[in-house]
Amino acid sequence: VRVPTPQVREVNAFVTTVLEHPTGKALVTELADGRKRLQAIPTNRNLFVQRTTCKTRYPLDLIQTILDVKEIGSLCDEISRDEDPTYVQRDLELGLLSYVSASAFEGKRILDFGCGSGASTSVLARMFPESHIVGTELSKEFLAVARQRLQYYGLSNVNLSHSPSGTDLQEGIGAFDFIILSAVFEHLLPQEREILVPKLWSVLKEDGYLFINQTPNRLWLIENHTTGLPLLNYAPNWLALEAARRCRFGPAKRYSPDSSWEFLLREGIRGGTKDEILTYLTNDSYSPVSLEPCRLGFRDNIDLWYSSSVPRGKRPVKAIMKGVYKAIKKATNLDLSPWLTLAFKKARTTR
Ligand SMILES: C[S@@+](CC[C@H](N)C(=O)[O-])C[C@H]1O[C@@H](n2cnc3c(N)ncnc32)[C@H](O)[C@@H]1O
Repeated sequence: VRVPTPQVREVNAFVTTVLEHPTGKALVTELADGRKRLQAIPTNRNLFVQRTTCKTRYPLDLIQTILDVKEIGSLCDEISRDEDPTYVQRDLELGLLSYVSASAFEGKRILDFGCGSGASTSVLARMFPESHIVGTELSKEFLAVARQRLQYYGLSNVNLSHSPSGTDLQEGIGAFDFIILSAVFEHLLPQEREILVPKLWSVLKEDGYLFINQTPNRLWLIENHTTGLPLLNYAPNWLALEAARRCRFGPAKRYSPDSSWEFLLREGIRGGTKDEILTYLTNDSYSPVSLEPCRLGFRDNIDLWYSSSVPRGKRPVKAIMKGVYKAIKKATNLDLSPWLTLAFKKARTTR
């Protein structure tokens, strides 16, 4: 006698809400622990989605605002930048505290330059509750998201301001003890790097620190920020533009054949090098002291890259890469690791 197997009906006890946008929809499922699980479903299957899922504590109206501004392709990524402790938070903890102790930030003024939608600002405000943080941003839309985010957290040690142009700082912005470019340097256009970075350097106080992190290393073999294409970092601009326009696979497929070079620069196609950054830190009275991380057991940028990027299971490969980068650095003084996490101290020039 065959006993019929009972029909098991999956009962979803949790509520799922659908948030809509022309670029796609976000399925938001309430979880038992009070969080929500987000799934990003693009309208166009070919659209590049940086992260397709994430878990969040954000309220629905904040998620909808982020979806409206960052679109479906960046929704989960933008939320994770703030809430995932292994993302921007880990990069900032390692990138700042491997150079300077947390107590050095207490009561100080910190500039989060290019604060975007406020992910790095929220992380910094939580890391340093006794400091005053100023976030500046070029995009008014992103700043509006940042405001809503800070309101959600009830963070009161932050001020946000709009950059009047790509090469200017807000008038009367004041002087800072620490200036942080979290995933920003690569998005600066060449003339902005030349004009703006010296301005940032001029509003840094004597003995203050400039941190540049989450920036792709222009010397690395792969352009890993925007296109994922090997050797693009070494290609002249015209060739890099053609390659990005024509490539139909990987992250590069999101760029259309008529993308302009300026658009790709703004996207971050050109990373930086320590030597390039040093050329912008000019001032008659002050010199940049390029620091190596010396705290938390680190010795150089390669250690920082290794620590912040090692996913479980890939340790042996990364460990070999780390060994190779260290050997190249010892032999040539060149740092060929994929990402830069740099710190410069502003010291009075001695004559
Ligand atoms: C990848 S986002 C990083 C945002 C934020 N710092 C974070 O870590 O989440 C880079 C930001 O830099 C901003 N940006 C680029 N060039 C700028 C400029 N010249 N002045 C001010 N902000 C700029 C962009 O608008 C963008 O929001």
